Amino acid sequence: MKVMLVNGSPHKMGSTNRALEEIAQTLEAEGVEAEIFWIGAKPVGGCVACKACARAGRCAFDDVVNEFRAKAADADGFVFGAPVHYAHAGASLLGFMDRLFYSNGRAGEPDVFRFKPAAAVTSARRSGATEAFSDISKFFTISQMPVISSRYWNNVHGNAATETEQDAEGLWTMRQLGRNMAWMLKCIEAGRAAGIELPAQEDGTSTNFIR
Ligand SMILES: Cc1cc2nc3c(=O)[nH]c(=O)nc-3n(C[C@H](O)[C@H](O)[C@H](O)COP(=O)(O)O)c2cc1C
Repeated sequence: MKVMLVNGSPHKMGSTNRALEEIAQTLEAEGVEAEIFWIGAKPVGGCVACKACARAGRCAFDDVVNEFRAKAADADGFVFGAPVHYAHAGASLLGFMDRLFYSNGRAGEPDVFRFKPAAAVTSARRSGATEAFSDISKFFTISQMPVISSRYWNNVHGNAATETEQDAEGLWTMRQLGRNMAWMLKCIEAGRAAGIELPAQEDGTSTNFIR
């Protein structure tokens, strides 16, 4: 079992990464492989709605988005982390996720997210953590991904990893999140072994609010 943890901060070893490290260490202790994926320090643009992914099954801009999707295919669970910027999740992570989720499962390519558990994590100096948490979590609930919770809000406080190190409650929350993720993965594996099938998918329709 493997969990991919996305660091959506421009700081490779910053506060967001420190939170993800705490989860990764907990997952490893629970027997689950963990890999942190950094989206880098270059700005990641958002989706330009060109719809090229509908034909190619991948984003037209061949960058970290396509790189991550290739890795995500082999992962069983995900954690997406971002710093809070202006009381929302950092725009690079949101651009990354817009393009990643929009281009996912198209042109005959497998859906790399459906029915895989996911969690959102944010890092703030002071305010905006729950708004950012909401920004990220909504990608999961529109994608049939079980959302993993913790014992309190999934955020840490700090302007740098050294400050986050002092956020004992934040790191405690991250460790519980790691244990909860490991538990869910083991439940899913046990269910699969017992013959529990994935829910049937009904063909839908897009009404675009036209009556
Ligand atoms: C452009 C920008 C906007 C920010 N806005 C906020 C904010 O609204 N609220 C807050 O608490 N911190 C804000 N911060 C501080 C970061 O959220 C904080 O330093 C975070 O922990 C950095 O995480 P990182 O080291 O992983 O990048 C902002 C930082 C930047 C660069």
